[in-house]
Amino acid sequence: MASTVLLLALVLISLTIAFASDPSPLQDLCVADLTGAVSVNGFACRNPQMVQAGDFFFSGLHLAGNTTNPAGSKVTPVTVAQIPGLNTLGISMARIDYAPYGINPPHTHPRGTEIFTVIEGSLEVGFVTSNPENRLITKVLQKGDVFVFPVNLIHFQRNVGNCKAVAIAALSSQNPGVITIANAVFGSKPKIGSDVLVKAFQVDKNVINYLQSKF
Ligand SMILES: *[C@@H]1O[C@H](CO)[C@@H](O)[C@H](O)[C@H]1NC(C)=O
Repeated sequence: MASTVLLLALVLISLTIAFASDPSPLQDLCVADLTGAVSVNGFACRNPQMVQAGDFFFSGLHLAGNTTNPAGSKVTPVTVAQIPGLNTLGISMARIDYAPYGINPPHTHPRGTEIFTVIEGSLEVGFVTSNPENRLITKVLQKGDVFVFPVNLIHFQRNVGNCKAVAIAALSSQNPGVITIANAVFGSKPKIGSDVLVKAFQVDKNVINYLQSKF
């Protein structure tokens, strides 16, 4: 009997984990008080009676991002930082622009699964599963194709066409976060000690110094 209860509890807990993204809202409106002093998991709510349509609104996703940078891509995020009304709702989006042969470098979203749609052009996309398999799951997408990047897994996109490409992504967090692998590893402030990186990447110290100078 006790073991049945325990089993049931474990099943329930695992179900909660499986379906959890951001916590579910407990009220209709919890528009973020982005400048508030109160620090909670997310943002404190503003007075719902003072909330305006503009708190649920963003304009500008028709505009292409500037892709003149070393990666040749630009992400325009639309998260709780841009739309305070997304607070507690567990969802956000982004527009990604790619120059010809541009890439969105390998990165992860620590708090959100991503569902990704190609609006223009063609993109090679991929993600890598965790240790020990580290399997690369990859596909070339055309306009209208949709692909999923599971939460936390390292993923990337590459424009495989000679013209620009555009994608729209939706993410299962109001604030999915981004960890760009190269920037985190080689561009941390302060730097990770080069002996750590020399052994981690099995390369010469000069290579590490060079990579650290790039990020
Ligand atoms: C795009 O970014 C590049 C590099 O920062 C800059 O030189 C250029 O003026 C920008 N272009 C536009 C249209 O803002």
